[in-house]
Amino acid sequence: MTPNQLSIERYRRRAAGYDASAEFTMPLRRRTIALLALQPGDVVLDVGAGTGLSFAPLLAAVGERGRVLAFEQSPEMFEQARARVAREGWQERVWLREARAEDVQLPQAADAALFNYVHDITRTPQAVDNLLRQLKPGARLAIAGMKFFPWWTGPLNLLAWLKNRPYNARPADLWMPWDLIAPRCDGFERWSTQWGMGYIARGRRRA
Ligand SMILES: C[S@@+](CC[C@H](N)C(=O)[O-])C[C@H]1O[C@@H](n2cnc3c(N)ncnc32)[C@H](O)[C@@H]1O
Repeated sequence: MTPNQLSIERYRRRAAGYDASAEFTMPLRRRTIALLALQPGDVVLDVGAGTGLSFAPLLAAVGERGRVLAFEQSPEMFEQARARVAREGWQERVWLREARAEDVQLPQAADAALFNYVHDITRTPQAVDNLLRQLKPGARLAIAGMKFFPWWTGPLNLLAWLKNRPYNARPADLWMPWDLIAPRCDGFERWSTQWGMGYIARGRRRA
């Protein structure tokens, strides 16, 4: 099974309960979105958008003239995102496709990109290449995700691995999960969250 197939299988089982399980992460999601410093009229990419939980705060930030571009590979997660867009009447403001990060083709270059808990995407060189080349030079990126605690905390990292495993095909790759993106950004900054088991980061796509 490829990592994509494994991830799709995992989310087939998790999709129904995803929004309830992600409720407590909303403050962190809003904090990560704030790092994008979105302006009215911006085009923002929501990478691996899941059920579309970021659409409302992203649309609020880009306003009526702005646009959200979003894609998701899991059919069950995508279906919830699609239903959310239809329910809220966002069809004109959200471009949404069932697609993989490795080969999605965006309809326009984005001013900013949100990578919210998309570990499998940030750890896949082909996906990172495909997405970054479709952002405007200087586009703002914000990332949130899990990472390992410092090595000297030892067994605590078993907890990080166990928490990551149900959601990701590469649960052990948590030492520097930002390291495919950071070297391709200017002004990359990173902060620890969740007592060291998470991180948020921002940077600008190098021209
Ligand atoms: C933890 S969820 C986060 C969803 C959303 N970003 C959020 O903040 O709620 C990870 C999502 O990434 C999607 N995903 C994983 N690998 C992907 C890939 N290669 N292409 C597109 N989506 C992918 C999964 O299907 C899942 O919906």
